[in-house]
Amino acid sequence: MSRTEAAPTASPQAASRRPGTEEEPRPAVIVANRAFLDHHFPRGSEEKTQPGDGGLLAALRPVIVPWDGETGTLWIGAGRGRFDREWVDDQGYELISTSNGALRHRRLLFDEETWRAHYAAVANSFFWPLLHLLRESLPERTGYFPAPQSPSRADWEAYERVNRAFAQAAIELPGVRPCWVHDYQLALTPQFLRERGYRGPIGFFLHTPFPVLEVAQRTLDGSGREAFSRFVAGLLGADLVGFQSEIDVRRFCVAATALCGAEAVQGGVVTDGRVVKLAAYPVGIDTESVLQAAEGQRPARLEKFASEELPLVVGLERSDFTKGIPERLNAVAQAYRGGARFAYLGVAAPTREGVPAYVGLEAVISAAADEARLAASAAGLPFVHTREVIDWAEVVALQRAADVVYTSSIADGMNLVPLQAAIAQSQLPEHERAVIITGRDAGVASVFAGFEKDGLVPVDPLDIGAMSDALTEAISGRPGRISDRLVSAVMANDARNWAARFLGALDAAC
Ligand code: F6P
Repeated sequence: MSRTEAAPTASPQAASRRPGTEEEPRPAVIVANRAFLDHHFPRGSEEKTQPGDGGLLAALRPVIVPWDGETGTLWIGAGRGRFDREWVDDQGYELISTSNGALRHRRLLFDEETWRAHYAAVANSFFWPLLHLLRESLPERTGYFPAPQSPSRADWEAYERVNRAFAQAAIELPGVRPCWVHDYQLALTPQFLRERGYRGPIGFFLHTPFPVLEVAQRTLDGSGREAFSRFVAGLLGADLVGFQSEIDVRRFCVAATALCGAEAVQGGVVTDGRVVKLAAYPVGIDTESVLQAAEGQRPARLEKFASEELPLVVGLERSDFTKGIPERLNAVAQAYRGGARFAYLGVAAPTREGVPAYVGLEAVISAAADEARLAASAAGLPFVHTREVIDWAEVVALQRAADVVYTSSIADGMNLVPLQAAIAQSQLPEHERAVIITGRDAGVASVFAGFEKDGLVPVDPLDIGAMSDALTEAISGRPGRISDRLVSAVMANDARNWAARFLGALDAAC
């Protein structure tokens, strides 16, 4: 993705913090589909590979506890970099130098067909759209949101193989360590860990939302339903399953009882005579890295907007069908036609290119961008929408410069952009800060409910009229700009606190 949700550096203060205290993340085995970084350059090359992108990496990067030879964070991820093999030993291990200190890292390598089936077919053309079904008929209502493609038997077997390989890699580790598995790409891994007798506590965190059971079931055929049940059963292998919001916890509980015969109890479910704790741990951001980046220069791309003295509306995200980009562009067009005067700058980063579920999305976005451009030009106002990866410093600079940060996720686990924007603007006087618009079904809207007058305005992203009205209001600052109250709330649950709370609860659950 763009660096939209990335946060590449941590401060010296972060590096000198002591692990294992109440507010500090404990050392754990992190099991994630993505490696901490992919090696894009050969060993010995002048070029330095940057840490990877994405919401998951942004959240986990600041929680690394330096490896001291015996203990510290140990990360297991898939090897997707062209030069990975040059950097690792014959078991895939290496020590990666990070801004938090050394990270012990193991890379698992898969053949291309296994990876296509696991990543492109099952994880991202089936589970990803399925997990975002938070309301009826998204494919019909949007015209571009893909229906989940039920996996073929061969593709499902590849998904299982990859999940087994991750579980096996954790089981092979010496000692007893908490194992923290991340996200929908590895939903079966907790179950495989349990079946194979993993000795430490098993935690799972779902970064995406969890869908409404009836909506999901209505959309799926027989094999899709079977795969969905396996997903739920896979997570139930954990001792603690964490979700972004309380709403996700409730939806999962309904699915676990209906699909897997689990019994709901206070704080979780009972299955196979075991309690599985279920709770919300809304993800946080690396606030220090946003603050550091916010000290940088105004991006050059804003120069052509500067002379206009117009309010700046910014849209930044991965170019994903869950982000509601076409609807937002339609609302921008409507606002221009309605006489609102503003400059719009949108940057959507290419993501998951070649994955079947994404085919066709770019054409829809381009058509909506063309419409909005026409409306802007008729009004003599500046409009730019580009598809590109921009670096972290520029992302933060744009968030800081914005008068309106305009997000529109149709469904989203959290959506880190509003959190980043609140921190990016925190050094400005309150009356100069932006208003943030968010899709009403993004995790950030429910987790920060009650902050509507503090600069975080939820809107139904499929209601173009409401989206356009919200934009016009936001330009005036009328709903209330980003307040110190919102900034403090984001600061209080930063990525380190999030991880510390999850890992502390995992200890307690066992
Ligand atoms: O939950 C969202 C997520 O899948 C994260 O795991 C990841 O950081 C991000 O989206 C980017 O996805 P990918 O790894 O497919 O590029």
